[in-house]
Formats: sequence, C-alpha cells, structure tokens
Amino acid sequence: MDRLVIDGGVALHGHVAVSGAKNAALPCLAAVLLSSEAVTLRHLPAVSDIRTMVKVLQALGCSAEVEKDEDGFELVVTLRADDLESHGLQAPYELVKTMRASILVLGPLLARFGRASVSLPGGCAIGARPVNMHLEALERMGAVIAIDKGYVEAHVPAGKLHGIDHTFDKVSVGATENLMMAATLATGTTVLRNAAQEPEIADLAHLLVGMGARIEGIDSPVLTIHGVAALHGCDHAVIPDRIEAGTFLCAVAAAGGDVVLDRVIPDHLRSLIDLLERLGCAFTERQGQDGMQLRIQREPNQRLRAKDVATSPYPGFPTDLQAQVMAVLTQASGISVIKETIFENRFQHAMELERLGANLRIEGHTAIVAGPSPLKGCTVMATDLRASATLVIAGLVAEGQTTVDRIYHLDRGYAGLERKLQSLGARIQRQGGGSV
Ligand code: EPZ
Repeated sequence: MDRLVIDGGVALHGHVAVSGAKNAALPCLAAVLLSSEAVTLRHLPAVSDIRTMVKVLQALGCSAEVEKDEDGFELVVTLRADDLESHGLQAPYELVKTMRASILVLGPLLARFGRASVSLPGGCAIGARPVNMHLEALERMGAVIAIDKGYVEAHVPAGKLHGIDHTFDKVSVGATENLMMAATLATGTTVLRNAAQEPEIADLAHLLVGMGARIEGIDSPVLTIHGVAALHGCDHAVIPDRIEAGTFLCAVAAAGGDVVLDRVIPDHLRSLIDLLERLGCAFTERQGQDGMQLRIQREPNQRLRAKDVATSPYPGFPTDLQAQVMAVLTQASGISVIKETIFENRFQHAMELERLGANLRIEGHTAIVAGPSPLKGCTVMATDLRASATLVIAGLVAEGQTTVDRIYHLDRGYAGLERKLQSLGARIQRQGGGSV
C-alpha cells in the first residue's frame, strides 16, 4: 500500500499546471452513452476514478482509446457507445462500489435505450450519499424503477422519457447532471429548478450542446432542456480542476511561498481566493500562454488571521476544499469556526490533524480551530480523497517527517500530486509502488 513521506518546513516556489477537473470529466464520460458516435475528451486527469469510469463504460460495451500526455498527468480518451444493447446495459457492482459517480450512467442509458441496471453506489466515508433525488425525478420522467438485490432496475414502458418541470428538494450536483443528460433525448421540454450551478455542470452542458443538445440557462439555477431525437459525436476539453487548484493555494497559504498556477480559471475559485486574502495572502491574476495564471504569495513568517468559513453550494465555499482550509487555519492566529453544511461526516481529517499537533475540536457539523499550532511530523492515515490532501498540506508545514498512509484515496482525484509538489520544492516522496 503506497504512502507519502514528507519532510516539512519548506516554502513552495515555482509554476504548476492544473490538470483537468475530475468532477467535470466523470459526467462528461457518462454523456458518451447518449450518442452512437465517437466522443473525444481531453485534459482528463490520470486518476483512478477516471480509469474506473472508463472501465464502467467498457463493461457497458463502449470501445475506448486512451492516450497519456508526456507528463503522465492527463489523458485523452476517445469513446464510442455504438454497440451497447447486446451487452445488457448493466453497470456492475464491483466497479460501481469503488466509484459512486457511476450512478451517472443511469440517466443517459434510460434516455437512449429506455432501460438500465445500475448497482446502487452505497455510502462512503463522508456520508450516506443517497440517490433518491436522481430516482424520483427519473420516475417523474416516465421511468419505472425498482431496487432489486442492490441494483437500480429501471425501464421506460413508453419507450422514451418525457419532459417535466421539476424542482429539486435540495441542490445536488449529481442529480442535476443525471437529469440534464436524461432530458437531452426526452420528448418535449424539461425544466430543472434549484439546479446545482457548479462549473462542472456548465462544462457538461457545453459538451452536451456540442453533441447537439438544446440547453438554456447554463450557469443558472434553472436549466431548460428541449429534447432532440439523437446526439452526435464531439471533441471536448474539460475545464481545469478548481479543487486541485484550491488545494495548491491552501498548500502555499499554510507552508508559505510564491507559486503561479497555470491553466486555472480564477473565477471558479472566488470564494477561496477571498478567504485566503482575508487571512493575509496576496494574489495576482494575468493571462498566460495556456489560459489564465493565478499567483499566490505568503511570506513564511507572515502572520495569518483566523477566519470563519461555512461550506455551501457553488458559488459558496466548496465542501471539497473544507478539509484543506482546515489545515491552513491551524496556522492562523486566533479561533476559526468551520461549518460543514453539505455532508454529514466530513471531519475525519480533524482527528489526524490533531495527531500532528493541531488544536481543534468538533461539535457536530462545526469544527473550532485554535491557532497557530506548531505541527510536528508523525504517521497519519488518509480516510477519504480530500482528507488525504489535507494531511499532505499539514505534512508540508510540520516540523520533521510526516508519513501519510493509505494514499490510494489521494490517487482517486489527484494526478501525481507529489511530483507536482516536488517541482515546487517540497521534500516529498512516494514509497511503495507509484501511481502515475
Ligand atoms: C459531487 O458529489 C462531487 N462529486 C463531490 O466531490 C462534491 O463534494 C459534491 O458534489 C458537492 O459539491 C462528483 O462530482 C463526482 P451532491 P454528489 O449530490 O453529486 C445529498 C470529491 O471530493 N443528496 O451535490 O454526490 C447528499 O447526500 C467529491 O471530489 C441527497 O440527499 O453530491 C449531500 O448531502 C466528494 N439525495 C448533498 O445532497 C440525492 O439524491 C449534496 O450532494 C443526492 C444528493
């Protein structure tokens, strides 16, 4: 089992390119099922979740060509879903259990073929992660859905889904994506209200429009989709990963330094940039050769000011950066209060940060962090994707050596994080095998 070994106390300097967004790539991969023509997706991060989703599509009968870029951080994938019905239209448990976003194949399969069998994804470390809102809305579109032996068994008696005017009970990224994809081939018009507005939703919508879908209200909480008879192939580059970018910003804010992120969209990070500026970091943005550049500076001996933060759906502060900013706040002077409003169990990293010397306590969905706390290296264990990134950040700050175990969690969503940090001067090594 791989682990990362970090010798802390080193500020970070240099340039790092942000890879494509995992959480844009996953729904875009599922969208391939909506057409019988080839779809090419570029800038996919070379992470295990992407590989798993490609395997799910291949299990459904898709053909796939995968090319790695020269750094090994990104993939170009060309997929074609032109012979699926003979494969049974089933997404198997052994793949879905490892990557819950596989539920995103349900909407496209129902929209194109009128039937699907997808394993229920089950919960994960951060929460129960139900999919009731996905299923309820698909039933309203004319699907008959039963849960049988842990599988979602769905079919459309009328043959085609029909449009609905639907308001989600709560904002859900996955439900918005599943229903937007399903609606592209439904008869009539679908209106989705209280839709998620994460940039990854807009990126998926842009792919769907590129495939011939008719979608209005992109980047708004009300999506209107006019169903069409068929979708065609497309060549699409997914957006840069705002969570990977935010993770690097938190690493510099915590460890100090002067780093330029290449191929980043600062507008996707406004809530984090605003928070880190109020803590005491300095930012500059400029146009680079390969898109926007974002520079963050924080002198290692510069005092950070404590700040409160609460997660909320985009454009609020992202839950996927809550753990990383907790590591930063352990180094801020004063008391910071972190409220996690999206998931019910997303503080598992707190116990591991305490082992490194952080001074914090958890009260329900609230973490109270007192700083600055001098961190001392030790062995810690990753529990989920973003928690593992947080422990790496804390290891960069801690005096002495930190070993982060179970970094298969990290490899789900970060392509070569240790290599990118090494290029910024961090003393970090992977032991035990290697991923990218
Ligand atoms: C997506 O998960 C992301 N994953 C998550 O990133 C991210 O944390 C989350 O959105 C919130 O931004 C991908 O995009 C692959 P939700 P998703 O549906 O779609 C509840 C990472 O670290 N809910 O927006 O599963 C749910 O339990 C991952 O990259 C229902 O109750 O999240 C949660 O409390 C972690 N019923 C809330 O809604 C449903 O049918 C938001 O979940 C669906 C969701």
